[in-house]
Amino acid sequence: MAESLFVPKTADRKVIYDELAPQIQALVESETDLIANLANITAALREAFGFFWVGFYLKKENQLVLSAFQGSIACTRIDFDKGVCGHCYTTKQTVIVRDVEEFDGHIACSSLSKSEIVLPIVDKSGEVFGVLDVDSNKLDDFDETDAGGLAKIVKIVEGMICSKTNTAKHK
Ligand code: SME
Repeated sequence: MAESLFVPKTADRKVIYDELAPQIQALVESETDLIANLANITAALREAFGFFWVGFYLKKENQLVLSAFQGSIACTRIDFDKGVCGHCYTTKQTVIVRDVEEFDGHIACSSLSKSEIVLPIVDKSGEVFGVLDVDSNKLDDFDETDAGGLAKIVKIVEGMICSKTNTAKHK
């Protein structure tokens, strides 16, 4: 398994996402441990884009609980009806927040976080397994290109959690 990432030298995020997705797929295919794979995915996204914070919150009983992440320390538990992550969880929709100050109920894990995108990860029975949360220290840093690019990464995670050989039984 290649342990280095090729990141094209371009500011075009679509090009980077397109290059990254197959590399992440190859990376996770050689490992069955869920958290190891989620950890590498957060590292790859942070390395490729320099995002301020990238991480997963996974559903455990009645909350979202912090899992693999890259960035500064973050809140560990989020109720389903709280924050951008909770909104993503309950609506099962990708949420783009161009200015966190304008999102009612936003949970500020860091005052440096200015904009945010959160995507749901759905298991084969249609239940939300967790969310992928990416934060930026710039206002209005995420758009449909990120939603589409990160959706490809989430599809890879959904493939992992549906795979019989993966250690996705984290509850
Ligand atoms: N801002 C998120 C909380 C998680 S941190 O951004 C890492 C929210 O409002 O759900």
